Amino acid sequence: MVNFINAELLSFTASLMLILHKLLMFGEDMSKPDYKRILLKMSGEVLMGDNEFGLDPATVKRVAEDIKEAVDSGVEVCVVVGAGNIFRGVSGAAQGMDRTTADYMGMLGIVINALALQNALETLGKQTRVMSAIPMSAICEPYIRRKAMRHMEKGRVVIFAAGTGNPYFTTDTAAALRASEMNCDALLKGTKVDGIYNADPQKDDTATRFESLSYMDVLTKDLKVMDATAVSLARENDIPIVVFNVREKGNLTKTLDGTGTYTTVTN
Ligand code: GTP
Repeated sequence: MVNFINAELLSFTASLMLILHKLLMFGEDMSKPDYKRILLKMSGEVLMGDNEFGLDPATVKRVAEDIKEAVDSGVEVCVVVGAGNIFRGVSGAAQGMDRTTADYMGMLGIVINALALQNALETLGKQTRVMSAIPMSAICEPYIRRKAMRHMEKGRVVIFAAGTGNPYFTTDTAAALRASEMNCDALLKGTKVDGIYNADPQKDDTATRFESLSYMDVLTKDLKVMDATAVSLARENDIPIVVFNVREKGNLTKTLDGTGTYTTVTN
């Protein structure tokens, strides 16, 4: 009789432990995103640090260290940068310049940022490839999707330069396009704030951050986190957009392992 009770008790305890284990695993799965391949989008302004314009070598190095940390954790990383620290096409056009010419100047600015980031990553011992949407083969490789895929599979950081290669498109759209072409699991948009707010947190103290949003929320509430073309492309290809603060060291890793502060945009 005692043996029977002991056996029942053992079996009950084992079942309880199994349920607890499953619950814990479930909790872990819920909080930790499982991104194997990501596209990191950063505005050019991120690379200028506290300067008014141009590149701040210490900031470029710091960003490269964050990317290295992500790559070392086993995540495949490709990058799209903007050029606002060097030349912004829209502002050139606003000053009377032909819009297409201004946009091409912006695309050349992106190539400068891409080469700076490549140099910083290679100084840290990471293999990289810069691929430009506008062929300039003396400087970097032309963008060829299948070749880019191969580089990523080999663990190289692929930096996509020159936007989409077309005027009238933003680097956000270039990021959504390349993230779609590379079958990325997420598009991480590194900004100067830690997510998407209902108002500008730098101007409004009552602004609150969203934990998650749908693509339609972003489009209909006009939240201005990305332009509509970029959001629509990500939505069509079901690529989550994760907005986080890239200015703080270590935030990329925290966003990837689910311990950071960010806003996720999904369907
Ligand atoms: P796999 O051998 O296929 O793994 O790729 P890989 O990039 O190592 O080989 P590849 O021979 O294509 O490139 C060798 C080096 O030349 C790399 O540093 C490339 O970035 C660079 N490279 C390749 N194509 C071009 C190009 O069109 N222009 C420039 N400037 N560099 C290139």
